[in-house]
Amino acid sequence: MNYQKKTVKDIDVTGKKVLLRCDFNVPMAKDGSGVITDDKRIRAALPTIQYLLDQGAAVIACSHMGKPKGAVVPELSLKPVAERLSQLLGKPVIMADDVVGPDAQSKAAALKSGEIMLLENTRFEAGETKNDPELAKKLASMADLYVSDAFGAVHRAHASTAGVAAYLPAVSGFLIQKELEVIGGALSDPKRPLVAILGGSKVSSKIGVINNLLEIADTIIIGGGMAYTFSAAQGGKVGDSLLEADWEDYANDMVKKAAEKGVKLLLPVDTVCADAFAPDAKSQVVKAGEIPDGWQGLDIGPETVKLYCDAVKDAGTVIWNGPMGVFEFPAFAKGTEAVAKALSETDAITIIGGGDSAAAVQQLGYADKMTHISTGGGASLEFMEGKELPGVACLLDK
Ligand code: 3PG
Repeated sequence: MNYQKKTVKDIDVTGKKVLLRCDFNVPMAKDGSGVITDDKRIRAALPTIQYLLDQGAAVIACSHMGKPKGAVVPELSLKPVAERLSQLLGKPVIMADDVVGPDAQSKAAALKSGEIMLLENTRFEAGETKNDPELAKKLASMADLYVSDAFGAVHRAHASTAGVAAYLPAVSGFLIQKELEVIGGALSDPKRPLVAILGGSKVSSKIGVINNLLEIADTIIIGGGMAYTFSAAQGGKVGDSLLEADWEDYANDMVKKAAEKGVKLLLPVDTVCADAFAPDAKSQVVKAGEIPDGWQGLDIGPETVKLYCDAVKDAGTVIWNGPMGVFEFPAFAKGTEAVAKALSETDAITIIGGGDSAAAVQQLGYADKMTHISTGGGASLEFMEGKELPGVACLLDK
């Protein structure tokens, strides 16, 4: 995939109506109060929005929220986002009552240079997730240009993330530009050695990433729940730990492939195991592959921490995707925290994949020490898998 895409700086936006796709799929309080519990994704869109407004564009912002499946679900309205965005920008954000209906159309037609409006949740339209050309055309009809800054949604080939680009000149905003530069740079021309730290619960959800990184990385470090499948595949005892028995052959193949390619593959040498999946469970450290019956591995052990932290010390680039253990329980967060600390102390370029790893780094207080924390969960995973991202592929090449 070509990462060299035109940005808002490569086109004249002054006096133009710009359809701006953002990822405003922010977490909301579960009680239906409309309170946004984390506004990071709204803040991440501000540089592009501010630039467009400063340049005298009229901004028609849009986004999805949740999965309403083509129905109007009031709890998934973007109204709370419009309010928060308005506070952050210090100016009114005109909210449309629909996506491409009469209210959106008339408000878009009346929108002036330097003003911003927000369309309703694009997934209130059934055509959105089907990438319906009619919906894409209607979205496009309101604007002169399309700018995408929704990195979190670029892995979706939907009407507002990709389809619309067939009908308008399409460029990226600053957020997508940065994600492409940093993650794309690490994948295509990394400062070496490139160390990839892969954790999380399941091997099955990381196959694509492991496969792709085996072609690129110098060292791959495995942690989290998926390490137990590797351990079991090598004949280790994993007790009640997370195990995907169907993936043991695959795990062995990966170990073999790494050896053939000269990629260093590091697996845990010890484990913190617990007698229950609970924050206050009784715990002990055992050697990897020696987890007693009735116990389950919930974190990497101290020897593994040392091994993994040493491996990132002299790295040129570190890509981290997936926690080392159950970091939500303080007693089992030590491995994840030690790796986060090691990353904060290395001179390497440090890239944190979105989702759980981003949450872990934030929760543990190391976020501002990383080179880049991706705003995409599924999107950054697919990027690291080497897949083409429809929301990027549709933008104009430089
Ligand atoms: C995300 O939260 O990862 C993005 O907004 C994409 O959302 P989706 O998985 O519902 O497409």
